[in-house]
Amino acid sequence: MLKRVKLLLSFMKGNRAQYGGAIIAVGLATLSSLLIPLIIRIVIDSVIGDTSMQMPGWILSFFQYIGGKSFLAKNLWIGGIAIVALTILRGMFLFLKGKWSAIASESFARRMREQLFDHLQYLPHDYHVKVQTGDLIQRCTSDVETIRRFLAIQFIEVGRAFFMVGAVLPIMFVLDVRMTIVSMIVVPLIFGFAIVFFLKVKSAFKVSDETEGKLSSILQENLSGVRVVRAFARQAYEIDKFDHINGQFRDLTYRLIRLLAWYWGISDFMCLMQIGTVILLGTYLASQGMISLGTFFLFSSYVGMLLWPVRQMGRILTDLGKALVALGRIQEIFNEPVEDMKIGAHRGSIKGNIEFKNVSFAYDDGKKILKNISFSVQQGQTVAILGPTGSGKSSLVYLLSGLYDYDEGSIEIDGVELRDIDRKWLREHVGIVLQEPFLFSRTVKENIGLAKKDVRETEIVEAARIAAIHDVVLEFDKGYETPVGERGVTLSGGQKQRVALARMLIKHYPILVFDDTLSAVDTETDAAIRKALKKRSNKATTFIISHRITTLSDADIILVLENGKLTQSGTHEKLIRQRGLYKRIWSLQSALEEELDGDGEHERTSGEFITKRKG
Ligand SMILES: Nc1ncnc2c1ncn2[C@@H]1O[C@H](COP(=O)(O)OP(=O)(O)OP(=O)(O)O)[C@@H](O)[C@H]1O
Ligand SMILES: [Mg+2]
Repeated sequence: MLKRVKLLLSFMKGNRAQYGGAIIAVGLATLSSLLIPLIIRIVIDSVIGDTSMQMPGWILSFFQYIGGKSFLAKNLWIGGIAIVALTILRGMFLFLKGKWSAIASESFARRMREQLFDHLQYLPHDYHVKVQTGDLIQRCTSDVETIRRFLAIQFIEVGRAFFMVGAVLPIMFVLDVRMTIVSMIVVPLIFGFAIVFFLKVKSAFKVSDETEGKLSSILQENLSGVRVVRAFARQAYEIDKFDHINGQFRDLTYRLIRLLAWYWGISDFMCLMQIGTVILLGTYLASQGMISLGTFFLFSSYVGMLLWPVRQMGRILTDLGKALVALGRIQEIFNEPVEDMKIGAHRGSIKGNIEFKNVSFAYDDGKKILKNISFSVQQGQTVAILGPTGSGKSSLVYLLSGLYDYDEGSIEIDGVELRDIDRKWLREHVGIVLQEPFLFSRTVKENIGLAKKDVRETEIVEAARIAAIHDVVLEFDKGYETPVGERGVTLSGGQKQRVALARMLIKHYPILVFDDTLSAVDTETDAAIRKALKKRSNKATTFIISHRITTLSDADIILVLENGKLTQSGTHEKLIRQRGLYKRIWSLQSALEEELDGDGEHERTSGEFITKRKG
């Protein structure tokens, strides 16, 4: 709780003056409205009536100065003008309050969203793999909005309540103690009711918010996976699932609104009872001559004014509860430690000699994914990795780019322990094309040029050429300026991979990793891309993960991973002479090729399965 308040205060920094100003402005507006019944009371009692004026001496001397009671009685409009002036003043103060609180709370929200976004950028890979995107979006938008609204409206209302009670009570006590006590009878009751209600409603708000989060998660997931949903004809199931949670959300919101309706209904009733009591007692006392008509008027105006903020208290407290819940959810994000980018301080040149020594690795769940892996490559060599799905190939290359930290053994790059190398520096030297490439909804050019500042047009074209995507791009109406994704062309899986490949080729990384990157392109394009790469980056140490023997066969060293263990390693020539997974897959793929070779028609269409032996 204290931590949350601290967080809140830290985000309010920079706009505290505006918040203070807004609270003072609302206080002054409140005072202006409190003065109006006082003026009316003087007019009724002392200008029209005969009671002597009870007021501070300096105001009295002012009245005497302008002509005393007889002058005022002849010029009743003066009171009217005073009331109008006060109303204008009140309007001005309210305007200032609105302006300042809007500036302060909008800046607050902006600052909070900005820092959330920044923080999310630096959270580790693992966090983003596990968390639900929809839920994060909800936290960064609607939770921030809840807090903003609280600060813009309710927080300032506290100022009003404070000024109201602070100013009204003394005036009332001075005028008539009996009436004051009667006016306050219900106040503790309403206040207590507000607190009890707040406690009850807090959990209702929380579940409603959580359900809303779930709703947006489902929506987000459905929209990103819409193709899968269609492919499996799962629309009806998805619609059911959405309907279910949507209905739940409606029910919860409905329950909340019903609770609120009870609250306002009951507290309305209590307030009216209170006002009724004051009017009854006031009428009696006034008719007995125990209080003046003006005082009676004043009390019946003030009691309404006083009850309002007390009743609002419930609202303020519920909104405070909501804001605290939202704040807690946001705090959870801030509490996630960002990736320590400065794990190692080493920033020496990285050439690409790599040595794995007895490396073992497990994800958080503790299950060993890589077991005792050892191999070494020289700068400029190509390493190919083959293995069944789930055998740990991607995990191995994640270690190499520092996305995860290894548990046992050592990985050395040019003789330096990977752990000792500055993370940012490491990633600037290890270029990786992920298994599932992601393109942004930007132009082809922007997507390719993403990794490098001030990238030149010629570099983009060169990279696109090597990645065998240049000709495809030229066929688009707007060429490299064509937007990708939602707003523009839809690329095929292979085209996407090639754009992602070009994006990596923009920078001349000394270490390159292709995680199954070429699986979606046909064999010939695959070969062409590899040839172009060879020509270009003789010096880069290259890791290629693939299920296609032709892609792997001319590597300097081939690693066969099975169930996290390195079961075979060596060149193509060596491995086809050994019994094992490599030879099995090689024979399978060559047999398939021979079969298809006899039947030329298939060659084009099923390029995915055709494998051509080297040579
Ligand atoms: N973030 C994670 N947390 C826990 N376990 C994971 C995580 N990512 C992957 N795994 C597990 O690690 C194992 C190896 O996964 P990995 O992605 O390295 O396999 P792979 O060899 O690349 O498979 P594929 O050929 O299908 O890409 C799998 O059993 C997988 O379930
Ligand atoms: Mg993989």
